[in-house]
Amino acid sequence: MFTPELTTKLERARLVAVLTIEDPDDAVPVARALLAGGVTVMELACRTPRATEAIRRIRGEVSEITIGAGTILNPQQVEAVVAAGAAFGVAPGCNPRTIRAAQDRGLPFAPGVATATDIEIALENQCRVLKFFPAETSGGFAHLTNLAVPFAHLGLRYIPLGGISVGNLTTYLESPLVLCVGGSWLAKVEAIHKRDWETIRRNAAEAMSIVPTARTT
Ligand code: 3PG
Repeated sequence: MFTPELTTKLERARLVAVLTIEDPDDAVPVARALLAGGVTVMELACRTPRATEAIRRIRGEVSEITIGAGTILNPQQVEAVVAAGAAFGVAPGCNPRTIRAAQDRGLPFAPGVATATDIEIALENQCRVLKFFPAETSGGFAHLTNLAVPFAHLGLRYIPLGGISVGNLTTYLESPLVLCVGGSWLAKVEAIHKRDWETIRRNAAEAMSIVPTARTT
């Protein structure tokens, strides 16, 4: 479902900014602030009534950003984010109904996994890029490396989210298991409410200054 081109784009980007936007007018300035700091991939969480409008605006106005949709919990949300132009979708859990809807609509989709059972369900539904969530409270990098062992021959790639910060992103990104990492610390809800684009740009630049380069591209 993730094309080689999209996989390479995420791998090169290294960081995914997770955002929750209430007011679609904030979408483009946030995207531009992240871009100015070097972050080129965003996951916009579908937890607010106008999230899909925010996706649509970024897709239309900031072409350098690869905009994905997060917190996709059902097939209806798949429809909505595809219509808004999302480049990929992510979920906190592994719901076969949602995954199948994404496949039907050609939306590259990374379901959330934290256990071996989750991964088996994802595999049964042809997913090869998986969100490891919630990364830190599930056991962090040590848990991911152990969890990945029985599936290593299948070439799965993981996107750890949940508790990632400048303090731990390097550990994850140095592993070939990890495609990219993401988090909400880059553009916090409070900064967006205050329209503090400079803080968001600075957070992005600080994080990008320490990310290890992707090994496989
Ligand atoms: C989420 O979906 O909220 C993310 O995984 C972000 O987690 P974080 O707030 O710990 O970065």
